[in-house]
Amino acid sequence: MFDKDSFVSQCKNALTETDDHTAVRGLVERAVSDPSSVLRELGDPTRAGVNKLYHSPELTVLNLVWGPQMTLMPHNHSMWTVVGIYTGREDNIFWRKIKDDANGRIEAAGAKALSVGETTPLGHDIIHSVTNPIPRLTGALHVYGGDFFAAHRSEWDAEHLTEHPYDVEKNLALFEKSNATRDAA
Ligand SMILES: [Fe+2]
Repeated sequence: MFDKDSFVSQCKNALTETDDHTAVRGLVERAVSDPSSVLRELGDPTRAGVNKLYHSPELTVLNLVWGPQMTLMPHNHSMWTVVGIYTGREDNIFWRKIKDDANGRIEAAGAKALSVGETTPLGHDIIHSVTNPIPRLTGALHVYGGDFFAAHRSEWDAEHLTEHPYDVEKNLALFEKSNATRDAA
């Protein structure tokens, strides 16, 4: 039975493990292997948003809800991450930096489709973009090995694929824009 407080406690304890990323991966895998239990605890998502379950300099645990067909441009985290889907779908495109490019541009390097119950770990330097490909909300547990909101990191312009400082406020506003579009429909 998923319980958010004990999940956060277990994630905090996992930080003491030698391989904390793998330890957290196991916790997220176990949680989303029973998606109905996560839904019972967190509730069926009703709005897109970045919902904090826990936040410290060492660990961020989010209940991240993607709007229908919402896409977030390529970005990195500068910390390890684990993503696990408890309702809906996530399509990830992975990117790599083009060597010696003056504008820090990226090129596509791979992709991973995530369905309900599935988990993926992302390494410290991974660059990804995320799309919710379905016409309803997608809910995912996102656990980060650091301060998701304060870390110095980058995003890449979706049209030109050039590198820029990550703009937390602008990206949080994208979730509200998605909600406004749904409200107006
Ligand atoms: Fe991300």
